[in-house]
Amino acid sequence: MSVFALLLLLSPQESPPGVVFDATTRARILQHSPLPALPPDPTNRVADDNDASRLGWALFYDKRLSKDGSIACATCHDPAHAFTDGRAVSRGLADGQRNTPTLYNTAWQRWYFWDGRADSLWAQALDPLEDPLEMGGSRASILGVVASDELLRANYERVFGTLQTKGTEDLDRAFANVGKSIAAFERKLVSRESAFDRFARALRENDAAAQSAYPLAARRGLALFVGRADCRLCHSGPLFSDGEFHDIGVPSRGDATRPEPMRRSAIALLLKNPFRAAGAFSDAPTGRRALELGTLAETSDLYGQVKTPSLRNVARTAPYMHAGQFETLEQVLRFYSTREGALAPGHHGETILKPLNFTPEETADLLAFLNTLTDESLTETLKRAPPRSALTR
Ligand code: HEC
Ligand code: HEC
Repeated sequence: MSVFALLLLLSPQESPPGVVFDATTRARILQHSPLPALPPDPTNRVADDNDASRLGWALFYDKRLSKDGSIACATCHDPAHAFTDGRAVSRGLADGQRNTPTLYNTAWQRWYFWDGRADSLWAQALDPLEDPLEMGGSRASILGVVASDELLRANYERVFGTLQTKGTEDLDRAFANVGKSIAAFERKLVSRESAFDRFARALRENDAAAQSAYPLAARRGLALFVGRADCRLCHSGPLFSDGEFHDIGVPSRGDATRPEPMRRSAIALLLKNPFRAAGAFSDAPTGRRALELGTLAETSDLYGQVKTPSLRNVARTAPYMHAGQFETLEQVLRFYSTREGALAPGHHGETILKPLNFTPEETADLLAFLNTLTDESLTETLKRAPPRSALTR
């Protein structure tokens, strides 16, 4: 074999005409896949306990936890809508003000809620249970449901010991345990390989045949995403989110001309939350997560900053943005393209985003790419309440 032929054999597989990834682009693409192993959560010692997760599974679908028995977590986080509700803003006992995010892959997140006002998955879960606009329960009423349901109670006590609800301290501890069980269940809501992940794997393995299954338009969109459009700056890593907060000036739903405080007002809430990672109910009150709270400063540049949402399953989670400002992905892309209606930055800083002026083809390509981030092949049984027989005495 000639040296030339050998070189040809060793050279990376050509992409089809029109989309050739250079080394930088290829490296950037590979940073988005696969999802790494589930990160541990030391603040929740039952995070990976199967009995806890089974209890959490039951609680997630249980409407009795709400004030009038009409709302469960799953009412808004509906498995049929990728664990969202398809509404611009949520509706529980009353209309809310924020769009319902998906629950796929929440275990990988650092902060919860659009403004990041919870620092663990279990602390997050406690909020809607008592929020008067959402489920409107109370610690006592919720634990009353657990205590009076023989199976729930048996499952609770298997994981946490005797259910005690006498004093405030007992009540708070048992309430935290409810959150920890629900979080153990949520950790199972993980997306598997999307078409994009299969493509990234094929790219990594230089498997041209497997690569060819990925549409050309999606490849062009991907190249744009990690290239000229620089979406990857914030939608980075396997989650397509840097887990951080940015003010991108999404127009408000009403006629407000200033953004809401968002991250700016979340810090104070975080620091006084009794269920924070550094609090008395955390299982790692001096761990890394807890210590990080000490480094949070309430600086004015946080004003208007919103958490970068993950883009996995994004084609299934319309409407978009923290208040459901955009109904479709086309509208989202139009906003990044034109910056039409963008609010001035909440803090007198520079606007980070410039209009990207997408051509119609570029918009179609980005859309094709975003559509390949879908995977909902979650174990079917987790998409509905467990049978009573799954809860054992
Ligand atoms: C009335 C509708 C509604 C109900 C009921 C509800 N949620 Fe939510 N959920 C939302 C909305 C809206 C947000 C975003 C709120 C915000 O950011 O201020 C949210 C945020 C979350 C988040 C944060 C996700 C992220 O990416 O930051 C998690 C996790 C979550 N909910 C889990 C739950 C669990 C568990 C329950 C039941 C205990 C529950 N939700 C009940 C509407 C609801
Ligand atoms: C400066 C950081 C940043 C950059 C760059 C960026 N985004 Fe975003 N993106 C965000 C933030 C923050 C939000 C949420 C904003 C809000 O709700 O107010 C968001 C929201 C979105 C959403 C809505 C997701 C949902 O679930 O509601 C999509 C889709 C999206 N971005 C796609 C893109 C694309 C495509 C690009 C590149 C053209 C891009 N983003 C560039 C930070 C960024």
